[in-house]
Amino acid sequence: MSDRVLVVIPTYNESANIEHIVGRVRAAVPAADVLVVDDASPDGTGKIVDGMAEQDSQVNVLHRSGKSGLGGAYVAGFDWGLDAGYGVLVEMDADGSHAPEELPKLLAALDRADLVLGSRWVPGGSVINWPKSREVISRGGNLYTRLALGIELRDATGGYRAYRREVLEGIDYAVVVSEGYCFQVDLAWRALRAGYRVIEVPITFAERELGESKMTGAIVREAFVRVTEWGAQHRGRQLRATLRGGRRPLS
Ligand code: GDD
Ligand code: MN
Repeated sequence: MSDRVLVVIPTYNESANIEHIVGRVRAAVPAADVLVVDDASPDGTGKIVDGMAEQDSQVNVLHRSGKSGLGGAYVAGFDWGLDAGYGVLVEMDADGSHAPEELPKLLAALDRADLVLGSRWVPGGSVINWPKSREVISRGGNLYTRLALGIELRDATGGYRAYRREVLEGIDYAVVVSEGYCFQVDLAWRALRAGYRVIEVPITFAERELGESKMTGAIVREAFVRVTEWGAQHRGRQLRATLRGGRRPLS
């Protein structure tokens, strides 16, 4: 893949993880550049990355003034990367859950897709060290998403992905203000509706060993409400199209 690749890593209080993950990305895909989007982490993550950026011109940092969500951090990172002319933009967590060593596999799959989702829930995918409660939420959330939106994706909530820049240019990602799972579902859903090729490749997701998750019940509830709204709107559009066509809707 000859396109320049930018790996966007959002951080909030990841001082225990950030050096290690950036080092692993640089080793796994030396040609790829890194952009850390830090929300003024009180634990000094941003300062650590400033130091790394001084030592390595392929490491960049975008400082935001305060914690304002995973979705917003990615929007800022994508703006930065598209402006800088990157052909491929990657989403990756800082906590080690997404193995940089699997990134070449995601990038290779862009040969036959516009958006590649790292997937825990396709054959060959897996999760290590997750409490049963998280697995139930993820599996249930993905099943619900499939049924509500009528899509085939097994892991629409995952956050390890590679986008061709055309996808981001072709969907209005800047209006996607939601957090966490919901942001991820929204982007995949927009890409599908815009006609882009979206495929899933299996990944092994390992729960973080250091630092704390920022996922909250509110983020899960937001995702549930939004997916339900999108599904209802979508089904409404389908129904109206069917009625306009003079055919009776399928039950
Ligand atoms: N800049 C910024 N601002 N970064 C944030 C914020 C924020 O408000 N909230 C979280 N992050 C960063 C974390 O520092 C980490 O690098 C990454 O986003 C993921 O946060 P976690 O708190 O570790 O989330 P998770 O492991 O529960 O969620 C992951 O899996 C979900 C699906 O299971 C993420 O990949 C989600 O995107 C995904 O939906
Ligand atoms: Mn995590």
